[in-house]
Amino acid sequence: MSSEQDRDIIICRCEDITEREVRECIRRHGLTTVDEVRKILRAGMGLCQGKTCSALVRRILAEETGKKAEDIGLPSARQPAKPVEFGIFLQEGDR
Ligand code: FES
Repeated sequence: MSSEQDRDIIICRCEDITEREVRECIRRHGLTTVDEVRKILRAGMGLCQGKTCSALVRRILAEETGKKAEDIGLPSARQPAKPVEFGIFLQEGDR
């Protein structure tokens, strides 16, 4: 992906994680999926939920494991969450 000098570039802007950290984590723990990288480094757990960094992590995983990026699974997705007032769960007439 890049030269040794460029490895300090930020891959996950939300969690401030560099390419070097991602590569070292993959090598140290023998990671093979984007979800594994997410669980250990938090890359993909930031505000954008990995919209920006998941593809980059996937590409780095492909390089580090010698697989094609298409063979690296996509990260698991969560439904968007939004705070709601507790009263929304009350039945009509409970108030
Ligand atoms: S850039 Fe990684 S979670 Fe947003």
